[in-house]
Amino acid sequence: MTETVLTTREGRVAILTVNRPEKLNALNDQVRDEMLAALAALEQDDGIGAVVITGSGEKAFIAGADIGEFAGRTPFDQRHAMRTPRIFDVGAEFPKPVIAMINGFCLGGGCELAMGCDLRVAADTARFGQPEIKLGLIPGGGGTQRLPRLVGLGQALRLILTGEMIGAAEAREIGLVDLVYPAAELRARTLELAARIAAFSPLTLKVAKEAVRASQRLPIEEGLRYERDLFCLCFATADKEEGVAAFLAKRDPVWTGR
Ligand code: COA
Repeated sequence: MTETVLTTREGRVAILTVNRPEKLNALNDQVRDEMLAALAALEQDDGIGAVVITGSGEKAFIAGADIGEFAGRTPFDQRHAMRTPRIFDVGAEFPKPVIAMINGFCLGGGCELAMGCDLRVAADTARFGQPEIKLGLIPGGGGTQRLPRLVGLGQALRLILTGEMIGAAEAREIGLVDLVYPAAELRARTLELAARIAAFSPLTLKVAKEAVRASQRLPIEEGLRYERDLFCLCFATADKEEGVAAFLAKRDPVWTGR
């Protein structure tokens, strides 16, 4: 069986490429299983500080769930296919920063996977949408929950109720993507961003992610208390001593992740 998720490395950055270009990188069970396996390996790999997820070819990031797998499925089949862990939770569950590098169609489950990542960087040619309504479905990879948190209730409802696509500039304007670059620069710019992040202490990155993500589930008073606890916890780390010592000595820090 051909691999549907390729793992490559550039320094401390791992790039996971969904490799079904002939199907616009649609997510089938094999892609999900291979992506989860690749992530499990990268989680254990101290040489990797950040992960970039992208799609193969020029045309698509991921054009959604593989619609072919939906035909004839019962609710029980579908519930089984949606068992945890789910790739859509990658940003929340994976301890290292995960960046979606969106090189083309970013639809349905593809858009939901991108929203599940920590950052979204898109080519100016990318197209976004939640077209499930056209199939008699609703988003099932977190779209009804993560989209309104990113873009607000009105824009989320517009996208989900119409199923219409928007371009990268509009996606940036409403907050669905964080950065947009000309398509020819996407890879270099995204990898440079990922490398800059991956150079920091993996321990501190993990704590920073945890603190910011908590803002999405906790009331503000609890979130602020949680931030204070996590900030103080950083004072137990060798990397905090190193970061402060390096600043004071006017040298570059050497992180150990402890
Ligand atoms: N699931 C399964 N196959 C898909 C797919 C998906 N989500 N998206 C694209 N493909 C397949 C097409 O069936 C086609 O396969 P074929 O060559 O064997 O017929 C191939 O990928 C190329 O797609 P095609 O539709 O010919 O390209 P296009 O440029 O005309 O249109 C899209 C591109 C993205 C507009 C169109 O493919 C589309 O609407 N895809 C479905 C998007 C969607 O509804 N996603 C949410 C699923 S819940």
